[in-house]
Amino acid sequence: MDKILTIALSKGRIFEETLPLLAHAGITPIDDPEKSRKLILDTNQSDVKLLIIRASDVPTYVAHGAAQIGVAGKDVLLEQGGKDLYEPVDLHIAECKLMVAATDEAKLAKKRLRVATKYVKTARRYFAAKGKQVDVIKLYGSMELAPLVGLADCIVDVVDTGNTLKANGLSPLEHIADISSRLIVNKAAMKTQCERIKEFISQIEHAVSTR
Ligand code: ATP
Ligand code: PRP
Repeated sequence: MDKILTIALSKGRIFEETLPLLAHAGITPIDDPEKSRKLILDTNQSDVKLLIIRASDVPTYVAHGAAQIGVAGKDVLLEQGGKDLYEPVDLHIAECKLMVAATDEAKLAKKRLRVATKYVKTARRYFAAKGKQVDVIKLYGSMELAPLVGLADCIVDVVDTGNTLKANGLSPLEHIADISSRLIVNKAAMKTQCERIKEFISQIEHAVSTR
């Protein structure tokens, strides 16, 4: 019997935007993760399963080989770098920018900045490279609130339309990185399931380039 190919991805925008790419590789999930409570989804291919997990857990599952393949945002990969992963394809989905935002430019002028973010390592790295002293406050979501209630001087978060910042009286001020989702592959699986994974990668590359 063929080995199972397991693909880890998060529901919501990554799942929705990955679906057409999977379809191009002939893979269609049987269940809808928005309706089903199942965390392992069968597909029309008996040797391909989808794991539905939190976006920030995808690199962990793939690095440990619990999934051979995953789809993860570059923001998550930058934050969790150093894992045992290949990153062969930029899928150009879930595109956004990682930015520093605050109510106004003057808020960034302080000698020692309080920065609220879920991207703790990335924020530290960014401000260290600028020689700026920071105290980073770890949050898990709704970062935009922090500057409004005096928890932080600024935030580091992803920005797409800018509507969330605008609705909360914040402006995008400094660009840290362009973000999109990447196909990630477990390094050991790339050896043990080389043919199957290479075929899948080339189907996905083709889907991305012809979209
Ligand atoms: P977690 O559940 O682990 O906290 P999350 O809530 O950030 O993760 P999603 O909102 O589904 O998960 O985002 C998944 C990925 O999509 C992010 O890692 C990022 O790369 C990208 N992303 C986040 N927000 C946007 C956005 N507004 N527009 C486009 N892409 C986005
Ligand atoms: C993300 C991010 C921002 C927002 C930016 O939140 O955390 O709040 O998108 O997008 P915009 O610039 O188009 O407004 P998301 O909608 O994913 O909610 P979540 O973080 O709670 O998942």
